[in-house]
Amino acid sequence: MTHKTPVFHDTTLRDGNQSLAKPWSLQEKLEVFGLLRELGVSRIETGFPSASQMDFDTCRTLAESADSQAVVGALTRAVQNDIKTTHESIACAANPRIHIVLALSPFTMENVLRMPPLKVRELAVSAVSYARSLLGERGEVQFTAEHFGDCMENIDFVTETFLRCCEAGADIINMPNTVERYRPKLFTDMVERVVGRLPKRVMASVHCHNDLGMATATSVESYFAGAVQIETCLNGIGERAGNANLFEIAAVLNNCGTGTGLNMKLFAKTATRIAELSDTPIHPKAPLFGKEVTMHRSGIHQDGAAKTKSMAKGAYRPMNFSEIGIEHNDRLGFTSQSGRSALVEILSASGIEISEERASEILGIFKSVSEKEGELPAERILEIYSGI
Ligand code: KIV
Ligand code: ZN
Repeated sequence: MTHKTPVFHDTTLRDGNQSLAKPWSLQEKLEVFGLLRELGVSRIETGFPSASQMDFDTCRTLAESADSQAVVGALTRAVQNDIKTTHESIACAANPRIHIVLALSPFTMENVLRMPPLKVRELAVSAVSYARSLLGERGEVQFTAEHFGDCMENIDFVTETFLRCCEAGADIINMPNTVERYRPKLFTDMVERVVGRLPKRVMASVHCHNDLGMATATSVESYFAGAVQIETCLNGIGERAGNANLFEIAAVLNNCGTGTGLNMKLFAKTATRIAELSDTPIHPKAPLFGKEVTMHRSGIHQDGAAKTKSMAKGAYRPMNFSEIGIEHNDRLGFTSQSGRSALVEILSASGIEISEERASEILGIFKSVSEKEGELPAERILEIYSGI
């Protein structure tokens, strides 16, 4: 199976923003929009215009200021008035996208919508058809079956609803794992099944939440199961445990050779800024940008890292970190768990060259100091060395 180049639809400004304790101001949203455009993301969901006057105004301003290559999306319920409001807020963009969401899972239709499935289907189709009529030939309509991840038992009903939405004018069919509860494989099997039935002109999309920590895996495997569009948030912010992280997904796809179309050198700088703007610090162990992820402290790892430091593939690194704008690939920290390679490397970085044999002889001295003091900074290592 050949795969189309992945398409990112970023929802940091909508799903990400709605989860913040202090949602962004217009100024902040403009900045995030600009960061996304610099990264090369062209499909951007800007908000939920029918939720509040502030959201309406913000989406309108972003739509007015967006460049002509950007697709400016906004989310709406499958309610005529809301769709109209949404259209009014983004219609001025060169490429507006109305994104309609309606739940199709048995549990939600019964307990939240409290409507029989056929009535829900009717609503979905008429909402899509109304959005299409407002947009005319211009712009796109995306339909999302909320809680798609819970639709194993009624997948035939859901697929048929998707097909009818496509006939009514949907350009994108989005399948969200609204709450991540099960194995990625159960989800991607459903995605594959739906993709096999969609008309060729329609783009399949996934939107994965990270409740159990698998959103990146599920998004990536959904792409390989046929979904072309992947919905993401910068730094994986979003409702509850967040959304699929744009940076992680792009890094995996880049490693797999699919291409990303993104300016990956800007990733680190952008991640830092989003952490500040969202007041959500990056966990030290977070993939890619956590401050610990390039650090090696154990002897075996330090030896492998030292021997492969100038090679394209490193023994203990997932990628060349310079590709995502991080200067250092492998850093070595000296502890009681460390080995002679660390000593050779750390001293060498300070201009002192010693042989491996010499390092083996004196290693024990440093290890026993570290047993008492913990990780030894380079200056402390130099101090101990000069006293030997
Ligand atoms: O999580 C979800 O189901 C959503 C949809 C609106 C795509 O955010
Ligand atoms: Zn979501």
